[in-house]
Amino acid sequence: MPEIAFVNDAFLPLAEARVSVEDRGFQFGDGVYELLRVYAGAPFHPAEHLGRLEQSARAIGIPLSFTRDRWTAVIAEAIARSGFPDAKVYIQVTRGVAPRDHVPPGSVTPTVVVTVRAMAPPAAELYANGAAVVTVADLRWTRCDIKSIGLLANVLTKQQAKEKGAVEALFVRDGAVLEGATSNVMTVKNRCLVTPPEGPLLLSGVTRKVVLGLALEAGVAVKEQPVAEAELYAAAEVFLTGTTIEVLPVVRVNGRPIGAGVPGPVTKLMMARFREAHG
Ligand code: PDD
Repeated sequence: MPEIAFVNDAFLPLAEARVSVEDRGFQFGDGVYELLRVYAGAPFHPAEHLGRLEQSARAIGIPLSFTRDRWTAVIAEAIARSGFPDAKVYIQVTRGVAPRDHVPPGSVTPTVVVTVRAMAPPAAELYANGAAVVTVADLRWTRCDIKSIGLLANVLTKQQAKEKGAVEALFVRDGAVLEGATSNVMTVKNRCLVTPPEGPLLLSGVTRKVVLGLALEAGVAVKEQPVAEAELYAAAEVFLTGTTIEVLPVVRVNGRPIGAGVPGPVTKLMMARFREAHG
């Protein structure tokens, strides 16, 4: 089955897709992106991802010429051409191609790239036994609500986590745990889900929102409030949410066991509900 790309209005095999070296995404990281999952051929919560893409683009002043209908059609065609039933769709919009100058050019056509690749989910063992994470000082800027392609801090952090045998690193700023390098974080205390509130210091995850809704439906109380690093260690359960990892139990933070050191009951309930939700 082919890996497909859509670049500036044309579909082609991913290996043949090209953008200019003067693209501002390449030169400056001047762009925004989305990653969404495809389950059994259908994109998961596309409206939420497209809404966030529009917000990110608006926040940095990139005009999006695509309507929702156009995005929907392009994504559907890319999925159909690739033929992968379980896939990840990556969308990147940069400010466009222009001679290198920090000041954005007055008028430039944004570069739109969509790629579809097969999805290789994380190992089943991680879901059965839980994952280890570490905490790191948050070196990012203060607009983490924008899904910027400038991901150097996330990349270096993810590498640090890997070197420590962890699957994720949680960013801590001023004593507060905010989110993972590629995920949101949830804690459980007295059977209540507690997760950091939305705001400029973290990404409003689509999976986060879906899971909070599923928790309420399942009779699990939800609190969106700051989580201090100490509260993380004291939590009965911790789990991560994200497009690529879905709902992933965390059983160790910086080598310290969380709760009983195994995936807890609320985490397992949310994993099960999430699996039902994507069919
Ligand atoms: N990242 N926080 C950050 C910093 C993220 O990069 C992501 C997802 C999330 C979770 O958001 P969502 O539930 O909408 O996927 C939270 C994607 C998967 C990525 O960068 O590949």
